[in-house]
Amino acid sequence: MEYENLKIKGFEFKILMDEAQIQAQVERLADEINDYYEGRSVSIVVVLKGAYVFAADLCRLLKVNHEIHFVKFTSYDGFSAKPTIKCDVPLEIDVEGKNILIIEDIIDSGNTMAYFLDSLKVDKPNSLDICSFLLKPKAIQQKLPLKFVGCEIDNGFVIGYGMDFNEEFRSLKHIYQKI
Ligand code: IMP
Ligand code: MG
Repeated sequence: MEYENLKIKGFEFKILMDEAQIQAQVERLADEINDYYEGRSVSIVVVLKGAYVFAADLCRLLKVNHEIHFVKFTSYDGFSAKPTIKCDVPLEIDVEGKNILIIEDIIDSGNTMAYFLDSLKVDKPNSLDICSFLLKPKAIQQKLPLKFVGCEIDNGFVIGYGMDFNEEFRSLKHIYQKI
């Protein structure tokens, strides 16, 4: 199932990061998170669906005490200038006084994350930070507390390692980018 190049519905994708390169970044991020939260507990919040593979790999390398929770958002582009963001799976914990670390697969425009952060800040967490495996610096439109970032990439669409194209290809072990 793993190839150098993929052709999907007429679009060509090439490998951006292979399994070993991904693993190296996950280990580096886990080290940074272990250092940063040493002696403290952290409440991990995984943004579904894309971040589920990254979160599973990352959390199994954590040495700090942590709990894991999930949220899910849908973004409708429609015809308006600003996309409408809706929460499908809400956070089921009280964040007040907690160290919250949000785990994302990729920050593109940053609009979904900005929307989520606004709702979380109201409930006064002790700390609020983001760990995103990928970041598209040329696409981001929001100022975000991006404490931990795996890799900065160009704007092309990516799939694999949890990330989808119309709900498919999340299980690819490498990350591919549209040429
Ligand atoms: P944003 O609000 O534009 O930052 O993007 C929200 C979410 O869309 C991200 O967390 C991803 O789950 C998904 N997404 C953004 N860019 C890509 C991509 O290139 N491939 C797959 N999913 C993406
Ligand atoms: Mg995501």
